[in-house]
Amino acid sequence: MHLISSVSAIKQQTEQIRSSGQTIGFVPTMGALHEGHLQLLRTAARETDVTICSIFVNPTQFNNPEDFKLYPRLPQADTILLEQNKCDVLFAPSAPEMYAEPLQLAFNFGALETVMEGKFRPGHFNGVAAVVSKLFHLIKPHKAYFGQKDLQQFAIIRRLVIDLSFDLELVCHPIIREADGLAMSSRNRRLTEPERQVAPHLYQALQLAQHLLATKSVAAAKVAVINYLQAFKEIKLEYFEIADAHTLQPLEAITTGKQIALCVAAFVGEVRLIDNIVFSY
Ligand code: PAJ
Repeated sequence: MHLISSVSAIKQQTEQIRSSGQTIGFVPTMGALHEGHLQLLRTAARETDVTICSIFVNPTQFNNPEDFKLYPRLPQADTILLEQNKCDVLFAPSAPEMYAEPLQLAFNFGALETVMEGKFRPGHFNGVAAVVSKLFHLIKPHKAYFGQKDLQQFAIIRRLVIDLSFDLELVCHPIIREADGLAMSSRNRRLTEPERQVAPHLYQALQLAQHLLATKSVAAAKVAVINYLQAFKEIKLEYFEIADAHTLQPLEAITTGKQIALCVAAFVGEVRLIDNIVFSY
């Protein structure tokens, strides 16, 4: 695996790969890699000739400085995992390398960023859109792989690709979960043992809502989820939304055949976790 940390070197490397006629599969990450990331990488390795992973804990997407400070950083373990999982190139730049000057550009994704993560994490998607745009320019992938775990992030990036005419194919990979249902996340490492025990209840709350929506109203499902999660003192619900899976706008009623997203964000102790399920009736 080639380890590259400078912007000029990654540009040179990706231009060389492209001109040799090989396709590039790109998996952007913030590191502290887990099986969710690795599945994206293995899919990329199956579908493209050269797999590039980036690891960059992007400061501009953290609305909470404490979250940025405490975000797990495990460069050595990550390098080993990437080598074992068919990664050809690791791009791991420093912050000054990525942001030679402070970011000035401001994106506006309209209604897409006024709900859920956009509402509760002001500026978050601006930082995501900026860094993903930069990475797409530097790496020029044929295919870029993202997880459904960050459903709203995927919707934002889909908009970015359309509006800025990035010449690439986006792939949305299903959520990878622990055996007890907890969605894998780099932040799970920060949970204490008792918090880890209750964290799967976020997924159980989503399943409960899906089950209830077969017969009950959106309002009733919302109340049931709020009540369900209130029973756990470690969990502080930030939002639970029943939304259109594409526009992510809240739904007041369920329409048969339409893709529905149930999305949750909650603090489990000090750690903010998100999860979702997408389905249709
Ligand atoms: P990060 O949280 O490291 O996630 C990198 C990619 O892995 C994202 O596309 C995310 O949706 C996906 N992923 C994380 N957990 C997953 C799981 N349990 N199952 C499936 N996919 C999962 O998302 C980011 O980094 C950043 O915002 C980034 C896009 C790299 C921009 O900085």
